[in-house]
Amino acid sequence: MKPKLELRDITKMFASDNERPLIALNDINLSINESDVVVIIGPSGCGKTTLLKIIAGLENSYKGEVILEGKSVKAPGPDRCMVSQMATLLPWRTVIQNVEFSKELLGIPKADRKKESLEYLKLVGLEQFAFSYPFELSGGMRQRAALAAALMSDPEIILLDEPFGALDAQTRKDMQEELLRLLQRTKKTALLVTHSIEEAIWLSDRIVIITARPGRVKEVVQVNLPHPRNRTSSEFIEIRKVISEMIEEEVKLTKRNHV
Ligand SMILES: Nc1ncnc2c1ncn2[C@@H]1O[C@H](COP(=O)(O)OP(=O)(O)O)[C@@H](O)[C@H]1O
Ligand SMILES: [Mg+2]
Repeated sequence: MKPKLELRDITKMFASDNERPLIALNDINLSINESDVVVIIGPSGCGKTTLLKIIAGLENSYKGEVILEGKSVKAPGPDRCMVSQMATLLPWRTVIQNVEFSKELLGIPKADRKKESLEYLKLVGLEQFAFSYPFELSGGMRQRAALAAALMSDPEIILLDEPFGALDAQTRKDMQEELLRLLQRTKKTALLVTHSIEEAIWLSDRIVIITARPGRVKEVVQVNLPHPRNRTSSEFIEIRKVISEMIEEEVKLTKRNHV
């Protein structure tokens, strides 16, 4: 099977205060199949956001290649969609106007986009809030609306950068369930960045562990547990232990490099 997304030798440097450039990412290679849910995890500052931005076409001047459906992509496009920690909804538009925005840009007739937006809002449990404004929603609801907007734009791959980082523990669990259900239902390919090892194991088919800066792929862990996963099962706990140890190793390195 041809991969949905391929990253080939991605290296990214930033200019820094001293003469030496900061190497954010070093030779990242990764390949993601259709409908896969892949999670990226690694210490703070290892280049996770930079990597998603490169895939989204929001960073230039990097080495290597991003290949989506066999074609090299270098600029942003409707085939990729990024959802960040702070749900980016347009504050002057209602929830439904936010969700239908991508289709409005494509010139889809109003009645059609309204119907489809309502379906996505129903899918994320927000149909009663279709005509509310973002400021009237809780953090979890805004994140759900952002997810509905992302799915509505029907990207080939959905990129999620710590999407639940700002939510309380219970809302976060609810949203993980929600996201998994949506991804399973829509068969979308997703690449998600998280700090939470538990979230990574609960959601993903594969976990990519990135090293302390410069970010390289340290290890790829396949998660073969059936859904819905039990966070307290011995298999779950065993994977959690293995990944925790790998990340702790990298966090220690980060600390040492910063002294
Ligand atoms: N625009 C920028 N200019 C200079 N350095 C940057 C820029 N963006 C990110 N960095 C640096 O690159 C590294 C990786 O950043 P980032 O991708 O945000 O990490 P993560 O999301 O894993 O925490 C960090 O050291 C950060 O300070
Ligand atoms: Mg980040």
